Amino acid sequence: MPPRFNIANVLLSPDGETFFRGFRSKIHAKGSLVCTGEGDENGVFVVVDGRLRVYLVGEEREISLFYLTSGDMFCMHSGCLVEATERTEVRFADIRTFEQKLQTCPSMAWGLIAILGRALTSCMRTIEDLMFHDIKQRIAGFFIDHANTTGRQTQGGVIVSVDFTVEEIANLIGSSRQTTSTALNSLIKEGYISRQGRGHYTIPNLVRLKAAADGDRDDDDD
Ligand code: HEM
Repeated sequence: MPPRFNIANVLLSPDGETFFRGFRSKIHAKGSLVCTGEGDENGVFVVVDGRLRVYLVGEEREISLFYLTSGDMFCMHSGCLVEATERTEVRFADIRTFEQKLQTCPSMAWGLIAILGRALTSCMRTIEDLMFHDIKQRIAGFFIDHANTTGRQTQGGVIVSVDFTVEEIANLIGSSRQTTSTALNSLIKEGYISRQGRGHYTIPNLVRLKAAADGDRDDDDD
């Protein structure tokens, strides 16, 4: 497998020096739509700073697929909606300009492969969750993902910082805010997760939580 793609490495290389020439800088306020899912100017953007949510909407509900942060790139023609969840700066190029840029800086293709891989993983995870997992399993899976990526092992368990509101978690796991809140509180009551304060949680026993994510809750009566 190639080393994990980092746009900074490309931009600091001789190829990268001229890469952003021809890109337009755009600032998106929190809550604004970067991409509406149809009729947008086609192109590719790179996130410079901030955070974007990629999601799909139906008549009554929506589902978040994944988030883009600094260094990630994405296109305007995927059919997904993209919303700024905080003030976000992107550099945008129309599709023709981006195509030419790819020819002069082929290592940028790693960025495209990386985001396509993440999008695919996230969509497969979403399908698996919706088809096979109940709400508690989905929440357990969400916390395990965070433990694996940003968790810090301590004597009392794995400390996890979660930069998402309950509503955002609900949209990621394909449930409502109320159901997610009730199921999360229940996992807390059952000792799988403990809440330390806003956005800070401890997982006292990761193996037990993993079993819960697999549907094997020891105190399961629902
Ligand atoms: C993060 C980057 C990208 C993502 C997630 C992405 C995603 C997609 C998706 C989902 C489609 C199917 C759309 C549909 O059938 O409605 C598509 C089509 C296409 N994409 Fe991309 N794309 C990306 C980057 C690019 C780039 C960089 C180029 C060219 C330089 C490109 C060129 C095309 C073309 C030519 C099509 C076919 C359009 C058509 O059938 O009319 N894409 N892409």
